[in-house]
Amino acid sequence: MLILGIETSCDETAAAVVEDGKRVRSSVVSSQIDVHARFGGVVPELASRAHVELINPVVATALEEANVRFADVDAVAATSGPGLIGALLVGVSAAKGIALACDIPYVAVNHLEAHLHAAWLDSPELEPPLAVLLVSGGHTMLVAVDRPLSYRVLGATVDDAAGEAFDKVARVLGLGYPGGPAIDGLARQGDPAAIGFPRPMAGEGLDFSFSGLKTAVVNHLRHHPEADRADVAASFQEAVVDVLSSKLLVAADELGARTLVLGGGVAANSCLRDRVARLATETRREAFLPPPWLCTDNAAMVAATAAAHLRADGPTPLNSGADPGRGLAGG
Ligand code: KG4
Ligand code: ZN
Repeated sequence: MLILGIETSCDETAAAVVEDGKRVRSSVVSSQIDVHARFGGVVPELASRAHVELINPVVATALEEANVRFADVDAVAATSGPGLIGALLVGVSAAKGIALACDIPYVAVNHLEAHLHAAWLDSPELEPPLAVLLVSGGHTMLVAVDRPLSYRVLGATVDDAAGEAFDKVARVLGLGYPGGPAIDGLARQGDPAAIGFPRPMAGEGLDFSFSGLKTAVVNHLRHHPEADRADVAASFQEAVVDVLSSKLLVAADELGARTLVLGGGVAANSCLRDRVARLATETRREAFLPPPWLCTDNAAMVAATAAAHLRADGPTPLNSGADPGRGLAGG
């Protein structure tokens, strides 16, 4: 069974062909970094326009790289939310058009669930219960997976997402957009213990808060304009990773879960990956860390999630829309 997946929720136009929900035959991601970089962040209207221009060539490339034609595809899936409404509509409309033209099922996919599902694509042997840390540019949450396709949100950020904090701090440090990879790189040359930034809401349940940490970085730079930028980046990253990883362990303890899973763009962060891998070993757990290309936005995770839902619930009606505020559905 071949599924064509499409992802256009934010600033990546992506398409992929996945076989039997497991084997990635192709995964094409066209980043719009050049479009948004000079604005220091994603401009929604520009994102929608760029998706319109890129969607057909990206889909064509994904089919070509998988060595298949439209006629070989058994179902088509698109991210229907959460995300930017104009951006989502481009992918959803393209997928519905393909479904109609090729007379194949359409499957609407939740972007958060797709990030979470990326771990299965990398490790099909994953068995619930799982404690999942989902950290992206728009979301930060701890999720319990008690059985396949069933999610319980245990905690979430009360203000900024972790990725948003990385992006904002990177902007303050003059590192440009997107900020996460830039901070990850610069932090390697810095001392993570140089500055004692706060660990917001540490020891206070499973919710997160990152806006105060960003303010602490701004204040530090104001009072210490000569501060070493690499030390600031490393110390900020250390504070974020401390909070994320310690709360993941608390969630795993509460669930009695032996398996830790990361998902979302921030899960590509090298410091977070190292820490979670180390903590898993120390607590005799297993850590499943999808490779970085499966953590950041891609369409392979969308096609794989669609395969599971098509089996469980069948296709999505073509009159269903896009939902920019879609949450992670329970089950
Ligand atoms: O999942 P994603 O690609 O898109 C959303 O669904 O939001 O996540 C993007 C976020 C951005 O905030 C980006 O700065 C962050 O993930 N990110 C990273 C790294 N790579 C991407 N943050 C920290 N370290 C990284 N290596
Ligand atoms: Zn994402």
